[in-house]
Amino acid sequence: MSSPSIYSAIQKLRSLLTKEEKLKWVGIAVFALSTSLLEVVTASVIVVFAQVLNQPEFGQKYLGMIGFSNNLSPGRIVFYIAIIVGVIYLIKNLVAAAEVFFQNFTIQKMNYHFKKKLLHRYAEADYGFYLTRNSALGVAVVGGDAEQMFSNGMIPIASILSESIIFICLIGMVVFMNPSLAITIFGVGAVLGVFVVKVMFPQFYRWGQRMQEAALNSGQNLLQFFHGFKEIVLLGKREAFVNAFQYHSRKKSRIQAVQTATNALPRMVIEVLFVGLFVTTIAVLCLEHESPVQMMGVLGGYLYLGFRVMPGLNRVINQLNVFKAAIPSIERVYKEYNTVALKENYVDVPHFVFEQSIELKNVCFCYPNVESDALKGISFEIKKGECVGIVGETGSGKSTLIDVILGLLRPYKGSVLIDSQYTVSSYQWHLKIGYVPQSVYLTDDTIEANIAFGEKEIDENRLNAAIDAAQLRKFISQLPEGVKTFVGERGIRLSGGERQRISIARALYRNPEVLIFDEATSALDNETEARLMKTINAVSQNRTVIMIAHRLTTLKDCDRIVEMNGGQVRQIISNENLINNMVKNNA
Ligand SMILES: Nc1ncnc2c1ncn2[C@@H]1O[C@H](COP(=O)(O)OP(=O)(O)O)[C@@H](O)[C@H]1O
Ligand SMILES: [Mg+2]
Repeated sequence: MSSPSIYSAIQKLRSLLTKEEKLKWVGIAVFALSTSLLEVVTASVIVVFAQVLNQPEFGQKYLGMIGFSNNLSPGRIVFYIAIIVGVIYLIKNLVAAAEVFFQNFTIQKMNYHFKKKLLHRYAEADYGFYLTRNSALGVAVVGGDAEQMFSNGMIPIASILSESIIFICLIGMVVFMNPSLAITIFGVGAVLGVFVVKVMFPQFYRWGQRMQEAALNSGQNLLQFFHGFKEIVLLGKREAFVNAFQYHSRKKSRIQAVQTATNALPRMVIEVLFVGLFVTTIAVLCLEHESPVQMMGVLGGYLYLGFRVMPGLNRVINQLNVFKAAIPSIERVYKEYNTVALKENYVDVPHFVFEQSIELKNVCFCYPNVESDALKGISFEIKKGECVGIVGETGSGKSTLIDVILGLLRPYKGSVLIDSQYTVSSYQWHLKIGYVPQSVYLTDDTIEANIAFGEKEIDENRLNAAIDAAQLRKFISQLPEGVKTFVGERGIRLSGGERQRISIARALYRNPEVLIFDEATSALDNETEARLMKTINAVSQNRTVIMIAHRLTTLKDCDRIVEMNGGQVRQIISNENLINNMVKNNA
């Protein structure tokens, strides 16, 4: 299996960044280069210091250059040089500390901005898009991959760049000063290079991929475990779920362990090769009867290499491995970013009005990866101010029809138009609608926050009106904390009927022109439903209402009833006929 090139990954990364962010990255790279340069200086200073300890008069020359007097005692020379070495180290590390902070703050800021941008894309995505995927993927991409992309994608590239520049300069210097040393470095470099490119890179890429997969699977398991806890317990599947999670989680841990450990290998290989070559050189020189003092030059050179060049080489390899492992994350973020909201899903229609009708013309809809159509040529019209009921067996396409009218699902044929011209896939249409879904979604927040959903400033008057209309007053007055009561995750602390009524209050709170109920009263007892229907009928007076219900009695006040069957309209019944039918059936 081949791994994609580092180059193409960098291209993808670049395309995801803004111009300003690219500039910031250049800042990071320049900072990295300056600390690397300072490290070269400090390493050289150590070599000079070693020389001065050996021959103090050597230091006199350097001190003379920076304005010291010319006849210092050897002790003084070593003293001054030692102080200078200390100061240089201090400066270097101050700069290094500044770099670390700059780097991390910059990267985290980019990370945060990018995640916001990415979530915006998800927010603009088509509803149909969500029907085909698992939420664990979105969580993994926004929560994991984006993070990886920045910390393990951008920082390594900056440090690889700066290290490589330094490395090339140093090698140039060494070639110039000491050809035999240069050969040593090339030897070590060649052996390592082949190993790293042929063995380590592909391996790290694969590990990155497997890690991503295991993280996604264990994340999905975890979500399902907490969401489905009741079913899991009742079906006696606790062990099975824990084991499934453990399987992926262990896989992830193993890859992590082997990956981190392997990344330490190049350092060891470098050390062995380097010390081996050093010892061999000294041994050969001794055989050639060179005196140990003459060997000081060789020793100094090696010391320098040991301090600076080899760790640099090691760092380049490490960072390349880190980057390789981050490539799958970069690819997934790139793919998601460019597919999630590629086209304009919802449009702005500034002059949108609803004054006449909602008109469905030959609407055909098919769910992705499904053979047969869920809606097969639906045509009818709803006049403004009308109350239309929808009945039909489970699976006959009622909810799908509603989603099409809501503009969430797009028919592949036919049209749904407001006042014969405006599209239902517009933000303005959504603002006119109060929708109560079949399965209610409550956030883990208070009752009032759930009713005002997403609004910071809660309008007390509208809140109270919505609570009264949704028949919630009695229930709320029994609670010690009233509307400030927390409902639990997905409303777990409430009964099904209470959740439905909160959802109805949420729809009414917006004071919408159009009300759409999808089996909104199915969880209520007959008495509560009857009371609720009375208020719904009252609030429906000057509104357009579409109401799906199981019980025909629920719909007895509707102007017309559309009966669905197998994705088609079987018949449309007028209110008079409905009442007549019901009287007949009761007789
Ligand atoms: N996301 C989906 N993907 C594929 N098929 C779906 C999806 N949602 C619903 N369906 C199918 O479409 C048909 C109509 O479903 P729906 O409109 O929910 O029925 P109803 O609300 O009348 O009970 C059913 O056969 C159902 O299985
Ligand atoms: Mg339904």
